[in-house]
Amino acid sequence: MASNFENDFEIKKLTTFKTGGKISQVFFPESVEEFVQILKQNENIPVFGNLSNTLISSNGFDGKIALTTHMNSIQIEGTKVIAECGVKGPKLAQEVCQSGLSGLEFMIGFPGSIGGEVFMNASANGQCISDKLTSATCYSPEKGVVEYSKDEMEFGYRKSRCKKDNLIVLQAKFELEPKSQEEIQKQMDENLAFRKSHQPSLALPNCGSIFKNPQGDSAGRLLDSVGAKNLRVGGARVWENHANFIVNDNNGTSTDILNLMFEMYTKVKESYNIELEPEIIFLGGLNKKENEIWKILNKK
Ligand code: EPU
Repeated sequence: MASNFENDFEIKKLTTFKTGGKISQVFFPESVEEFVQILKQNENIPVFGNLSNTLISSNGFDGKIALTTHMNSIQIEGTKVIAECGVKGPKLAQEVCQSGLSGLEFMIGFPGSIGGEVFMNASANGQCISDKLTSATCYSPEKGVVEYSKDEMEFGYRKSRCKKDNLIVLQAKFELEPKSQEEIQKQMDENLAFRKSHQPSLALPNCGSIFKNPQGDSAGRLLDSVGAKNLRVGGARVWENHANFIVNDNNGTSTDILNLMFEMYTKVKESYNIELEPEIIFLGGLNKKENEIWKILNKK
């Protein structure tokens, strides 16, 4: 089975931060079967979806990665929905709405892919992806293709068993509830309005929340209280309306963003002795300074 791939790929045209250097080789699988073959032939290959939660080194990556953006199939049978890992949140939210199915309204404003959202149990507006998920089919380096039930996925706040067990999400199944399209659309409109007023649009390159909320507190509140909204490094700055967002408003680089994250982290650590944990994922290796910062930020 021949796979689509590109060499020396300029990743910054796809990352929502609009940063990152060249990747030696990028695979674009078109189906679950092709994807599994790539995963088997390229042990521990990094996998990404819509690159909306990912920071890629300014020096790029000297290796292979796989992007799931071409795996877009959605099957709807009654109240059951199966989505491939590359399906984008807003597309899934709209399609299930057209079928009069409720439960994924929160995804309307999410730029991410289903695979990434299951991996980190994405949430917003009081809903999270694990609420309506019944199972996820994943690739395990040890066991091959395995379908894990919702309980077996070990979901928590911004986590699932995927990180700990090196699982790659292939597709996810959901059980939704019938509702009128008008009600679903109304909820999605409210979610979009909330997002517009609280979070930067992708016209201002960003990656969503930068740090996870520490238990019982809010990263945005903590960062705001230490004056993070005034911070800028190179072309990247903290967003003026929410201190847990970084926007790249002047051709910033991933190195700028990592340096800025380090300043944000340090301010909160010095004032509160709380070590904020990144929500975003970093892929690097070739830039010593970036690697040093990431090692400090990413302890878990
Ligand atoms: N706050 C401040 N100053 C700020 C920012 C926030 O004081 O600069 C305060 C707010 O007033 C509020 C609290 O902090 O009392 C929490 O802020 P917000 O309601 O914006 O929610 P959040 O915890 O920052 C989380 C998710 C978002 C999700 C929203 C809405 C995390 C890290 N972030 O944000 O997810 O959209 O709730 O449900 O859990 C993402 O993961 O990329 C993301 C955007």
